[in-house]
Amino acid sequence: MAYLLGIDIGTSGTKTVLFDVNGTTIASDTQEYPLYQPRNGWAEQDPEDWWKATCVSTRNVIAQSGVNPRDIKGVGLSGQMHGLVLLDADDKVLRRSIIWCDQRSAQECEEITSLVGAKRLIEITANPALTGFTASKIKWVMNNEPEIYEKARKILLPKDYIRFCLTGEYATEVSDASGMQLLDVPNRRWSDEVLQKLGIDKDMLGKVYESQEVTGTVSKKAAELTGLAEGTIVVGGGGDQAAGAVGNGIVKPGVISSTIGTSGVVFAYTDKVSIDPKGRVHTFCHAVPNTWHIMGVTQGAGLSLQWFRNNFCHEEISVAGLLDVDPYYLIDKAAEKVAVGADGLIYLPYLMGERTPHLDPDCRGVFFGISAKHTKREFLRAVMEGVAYSLKNCLDIIKEMGIGINEVRASGGGGKSPLWRQIQADLFGTPICTVNSSEGPALGVALLAGVGAGIYKSVPEACDQTIRVVTHQDYNKDNHVAYQKFYSLYNDIYQSLKNDFKTLAKVNQS
Ligand code: XUL
Repeated sequence: MAYLLGIDIGTSGTKTVLFDVNGTTIASDTQEYPLYQPRNGWAEQDPEDWWKATCVSTRNVIAQSGVNPRDIKGVGLSGQMHGLVLLDADDKVLRRSIIWCDQRSAQECEEITSLVGAKRLIEITANPALTGFTASKIKWVMNNEPEIYEKARKILLPKDYIRFCLTGEYATEVSDASGMQLLDVPNRRWSDEVLQKLGIDKDMLGKVYESQEVTGTVSKKAAELTGLAEGTIVVGGGGDQAAGAVGNGIVKPGVISSTIGTSGVVFAYTDKVSIDPKGRVHTFCHAVPNTWHIMGVTQGAGLSLQWFRNNFCHEEISVAGLLDVDPYYLIDKAAEKVAVGADGLIYLPYLMGERTPHLDPDCRGVFFGISAKHTKREFLRAVMEGVAYSLKNCLDIIKEMGIGINEVRASGGGGKSPLWRQIQADLFGTPICTVNSSEGPALGVALLAGVGAGIYKSVPEACDQTIRVVTHQDYNKDNHVAYQKFYSLYNDIYQSLKNDFKTLAKVNQS
């Protein structure tokens, strides 16, 4: 029997999953690690934590499954996108990785825009300069830690650092490389023009592959540390969103996904490069050759509910422990008792600033309309609805760009909540489905590994053989109508507070 391994270097932990060739999960293991926030709006992680988590989770999965490592025919890597890993001449990590949700590089975005030109930057990289993307993080290190940048010889993304640890190769693939803002997205190769204008040496970057291509094989040392067989192929893989899309079968027109992980993403497939002139959604290469994707990103989706749970739901956490259920199950049950609109309580999920649609690193979370009769339930419902409003912002822009939407597939940790799915269906006015596997990115990259290993002919064929819709929730027309008033107010609140967020950022500098 042949098996495929997907490794997903997420923000809260690394999840490693072993699949058979039908896409059935054989074993899975997650190893968590810390997120460092040295300042408001900053976010860093230690790449060594990712590598340790990869080694432990891979060993655990192999041990749990009892599978002979030689039967694992390929490894696919997925991960949080955009994070900056800098290696010195001895391949040592030079500083903690500045990760995707870090917002420190607003000034560098202005610098990039003036160096490349706003129009040219969008023509080449398909996106405006954003704090989330790697280029501005590189510029930040150049400007603020020149002594570190001087020592840097290689620039890698999170999953590509793990590839280096596994195979010794400096390589990346088109979907994740798109989020560096150094790639010529229409032509799927590094942009000499952008690199030259930003003063970044091309030799510092890895070789760019298509996501299904073999980029190297597991080295002897990595085999000892992970339990994998030496020589196992490692394919390009994908940034977590493109990989998750493959794992949800988003490889053809009309089917889009709405994912609630730490961030929230609405993702659509396109077979031509299509760019929002206002840059509110990202256009990136998809993990399927010759195709692209559009995605709207909300920074604080699952993060919002996780933050609320960690700070205000100690009771639910301990009751869940006693009942042996997930605290989110109790949270769902509490929020379910509240009607559409959370009794007039509206939440803006901007805990880490916002990308789609505002591109505003300074905005922050808001509860609007708090009244003495509100209880924790209304707050929980408001958080779930606020995240859904921000996903609808993404969906609206994708529709505005002329992308047809026949079906929305929910995924990510938040997609497991029937209530959160229903809120989205009612708000969007579309049915919401889920597919048979909830492994998203790990499954997506395992399928890519299967294509690289010659088990499937193509990515769409791999999806056809393994992925099917298993749940379908219709939207409720009355709720859909009721939501529109709250949604419109949600949009107005940001406009009213826009300048106040800037003032807050200035007065709260620390
Ligand atoms: C996508 C993005 C997030 C991160 C973390 O642009 O920033 O999806 O990859 O999940």
